[in-house]
Formats: sequence, C-alpha cells, structure tokens
Amino acid sequence: MIGTSRPNHLKSQWRCPSNIALVKYWGKRDFQKPMNPSLSFVLQNSFTETSVELFNEGNRKIEFYFEGASSAFGERIEKYFDRISMQLPWINKYKFRIDSRNSFPHSAGIASSASSFGALALCLTELDYMLSGKQMDGADFYQEASELARMGSGSACRSVFPGFSIWGKTPLFESGSDELAMPVSVGIHPVFSGLRDAVLLVYSGIKDVSSSVGHSMMEKHFYQHSRIAQAHENINELYLALLTGDLEKFAEVVENEALSLHAMMMTSNPSFILLKPNSLELISRIRRFRQKSKIPICFTIDAGPNIHLLYFQDNEGDVKAFIERELLVFCENGKWIDDRIGAGASSCHSQVGEKIIRA
Ligand code: DP6
Repeated sequence: MIGTSRPNHLKSQWRCPSNIALVKYWGKRDFQKPMNPSLSFVLQNSFTETSVELFNEGNRKIEFYFEGASSAFGERIEKYFDRISMQLPWINKYKFRIDSRNSFPHSAGIASSASSFGALALCLTELDYMLSGKQMDGADFYQEASELARMGSGSACRSVFPGFSIWGKTPLFESGSDELAMPVSVGIHPVFSGLRDAVLLVYSGIKDVSSSVGHSMMEKHFYQHSRIAQAHENINELYLALLTGDLEKFAEVVENEALSLHAMMMTSNPSFILLKPNSLELISRIRRFRQKSKIPICFTIDAGPNIHLLYFQDNEGDVKAFIERELLVFCENGKWIDDRIGAGASSCHSQVGEKIIRA
C-alpha cells in the first residue's frame, strides 16, 4: 500500500467465462490442489460479470448480490475471504459490495463456480494491484488471479486465460503447477479455433452430489491410482492431438475422459449415477451420427446429466441440422446453449443482456 493513506472507494469489474474440461479434474489433495492434471477450454457466451467495490468504512463486511438480490452464495464468499486473507491481508480492512450476474441460467448445468470465482478473483487481484500501485501489464496479473480463483473453486483457475489451459503438475510442461493454471493455446492446430460446444440441457433439477463431495469420494476410491495414471496418459495424448489437429484422437480421448469421470462416480462409495436415460440416448445418437456421416463430432460431460456436443466450425450447418432434427427432443423443453471456444476474460463496464439459452 502506498504510504499509509487508504482510498475511500475503489471499483473493479470483470467478465470471466466458464470453462469445460476435456481432461477432468476429479479428486483433491492438500488444500484445493488437484490429484491429477486437467485440460480445458473457456467458453465464449457463458460467463459471469462481477463488480467489486471497496469502501473505507471500518473492518471487513461483505454485501453480495446475485442478479440484484441477496443470495446464499454470499456465505461461500465469506468463507472464501477467510481463506484468502493470508494472500490479501487488506481484505479484512474494508467494506465490500459485490454484484454478480451470469449470462446463462442457474439451471443450465454449466459450472457457474468456475466463472464466478474467476471473475471475483480477477476483481480482487485488480484491487490488490490498485492498492499496491503495481502495474497490470504482465502475465503475473493473470497468474495471481488464477491462483486466487483456485482457492474458491479448483476449475476456476482455468477460466482466467483465453482458449486452452492446463492445471496441475504434468511432465508435459516444466512450469505446470498445482497452484495455478497455465494457458497452452500457442502452437495449437488452427482447426481448434473453430471449436464449438452445443450444451444439450437434459435435466435442470438439483444434482444428487456436489463436486466437493464428488472430489472427496476419490480419496478412498479403489481406482484412485489408475485414474491418476489415466489422466496423465490422456493429457499427453490430447495435447498431441491438439498440436497436430488429430480429430479422431481428440474425440477418443475426450469421450474416454467424460465416461471415466462418470465411471468414478458410479463406482465410488456411496455411488452416484448422474446420467439420465436421455443423456445416454444423446450419446448413442452422437456416436451413430459420427459413424455414418464421418463428421468429426464428440461429447464431453461434467459432473451432471447434460451433454456437451463438441464439433467444428466447418461442419456447423450439418451439425446444427442434426441437433434440431434428432437431439432436441431429448433435451428438457428442447433447450440448449450454442457456445464456442472463447477469447478469455476481460475487464468490463457493461451489463449482461438477455440470457443465452435457446429453445
Ligand atoms: C467435473 O472445480 O467445481 O467439472 O474445486 O470443489 O469447486 P471445487 O470443484 P469444481 O470441480 C469441477 C469438476 C469437473 C471437472 C473439471 O472441471 O475439471
């Protein structure tokens, strides 16, 4: 902090996208560190916008508003502030007003914790830079934000960079770390700049298991060691496929990861089956379409029943026709989200417009 003067009011506002993992983070060790490395890409249309204002009005107090109303997420933010007060001791000395809003509906099955904690961490990192007088011109800023985001939600650390990111130690990159993610878009085959993600919304009800509980199931999982080995092998193969543009390998690894995540949940104790009959129907139709048409499409799935159909810009017309003709009938109220690989987080001053869900 410069001298002893404290600003009366500062504000930071960021838009941060959600991300979808292709190699899944599943299982933690120590404090918010992953059992295995993961690889994801950020979305373009599914994002959170958050503004954080600080006021010099006594000790820490947080007012949190989600889409204009107070929300239970505020409790998670209180805990988050406790956790990060070692890194940012000044947060105990100000009053905060935090306003957050998502471009996608809560029920969309898109991980909102990744974009929410990503946006919040970017705001807090910017405020830290403002208070200390540091320049925001280097990679350091995003690295600090990524580490701070990880402490809120593991997958959030991959949301602050554009395109593809890797989080977790891997022999692939000497600089790979369990503490923060790193962007890996340089050198990726150009076909992946046209990567599309149609999120097929199967079920919007509450999930039987939260990700935190799911992660903890890996601690005593019979397959823990094999799963870690598999994730390392898959990240190597997937990264090679990304560099070379090998779309067949891409589909093979991505589907294997999605189904392995669900296999881990099904075989944990207690066991969870999050896929619905319609999720399975969509999977089999996607595979059948790929086999017949030879169009490179595949699916990934998070810890829920919704199916992310991945395809490429060159095939947009054919794939959208296929979605409308054969897949929407298996989606809840015919709903889906039309998304794509994104350009990353940005400092912003605008408001989110309409929700992006389609029906
Ligand atoms: C299946 O990042 O939501 O989406 O660290 O407890 O907040 P916490 O978990 P979270 O877990 C995401 C799990 C996943 C896979 C992934 O995104 O890599």
